[in-house]
Amino acid sequence: MKVGMLTSGGDCQSLNATMRGVAKTLYNEVKNVEIIGFRDGYKGLIYGQYQKMESSDFSGILTEGGTILGTSRQPFKEMRIPDENGLDKVKAMKDTYKKLKLDCLVILGGNGTHKTANLLSQEGLNVVTLPKTIDNDIWGTDITFGFQSACDMAAGVIDSIHTTASSHGRVFIVEVMGHKTGWLTLHAGIASGADVILLPEIPYDIDSICDALKNRAKQGKRFSILAVAEGAISKEDAKLSKKEYKEKVKNRPYPSVAYEIGKEIEEKTGQEVRVTVPGHMQRGGSPCPYDRVLSSRLGACAAQQIIKKEYGCMIGVRDNEIVPVPLEEVAGKLKLVEPGAAIIKEAKLMGISFGD
Ligand code: F6P
Repeated sequence: MKVGMLTSGGDCQSLNATMRGVAKTLYNEVKNVEIIGFRDGYKGLIYGQYQKMESSDFSGILTEGGTILGTSRQPFKEMRIPDENGLDKVKAMKDTYKKLKLDCLVILGGNGTHKTANLLSQEGLNVVTLPKTIDNDIWGTDITFGFQSACDMAAGVIDSIHTTASSHGRVFIVEVMGHKTGWLTLHAGIASGADVILLPEIPYDIDSICDALKNRAKQGKRFSILAVAEGAISKEDAKLSKKEYKEKVKNRPYPSVAYEIGKEIEEKTGQEVRVTVPGHMQRGGSPCPYDRVLSSRLGACAAQQIIKKEYGCMIGVRDNEIVPVPLEEVAGKLKLVEPGAAIIKEAKLMGISFGD
């Protein structure tokens, strides 16, 4: 059996642990198995950059962050556009697959990656994917690997901010990654006792945020902490068309939304505000034990799927079960935080403001 493997899109903490799960199971369960690792995601498949992996390559990587194969972003919308030398990328990927006589391709990636994986599957390649992202926004799985590790990192930042915020009696804004969704901010914010949590799915009203901060000050609280998603959006901006909003963001005189909110809070409340942006730290370091277990389980199940020759699916988690989910169901959809979800209601019951 010959299996190709690649990691694509933004990295996260548990990619190596997941590949190890797949590889260990295949080496254990299949007599003759060869694994080909493609360099830097789809790029390696397009341009034939790969290496034959040895079983020793997958040893000692359970706790290692990043990806031993490298990764890159190859936007789905550009897949059908020839490269600067006129190369047809989709054809090139199929040619590499055929030339290597692969039985299947294991693809670890997020939303964009899944669109291309689905395309390759529709083009006749045998594909099994695994849901990677700190954003936890992949449709068809309750959780993605990388999310819990990033949550630990982001919550750790907010934990640390508490002491300095308290010493100085300041308002602190911690901007959390998550792209267009608020999963990471929501979970890191609750885990670390943030007072205000702003998510892209719940547009905010700056006056409502300021009221929450003033109320805290009235209650004698010396400081306040806001966990703000990088995609947080005001009620006013949420009314704009996609194009208008993009334009507005392009011309925004602040590096990101957290700074804009910080400035408005200072102006409206007179409180001193500081902004912290942990950025890519949230994707770095070792996977947490939860992710190591999740990745091992997902990896082992992906290998089983390959052994059964049942392709065209992503291995996800639904109601605590590891299950295959058809790729066409996953590709092109975004899993958003539901504003009416129980977790939001519970957070509100505890007095957390969502700025709505
Ligand atoms: O999808 C993961 C993620 O870290 C997002 O949270 C963030 O918006 C984006 O990637 C950053 O992308 P890049 O690493 O390309 O700057």
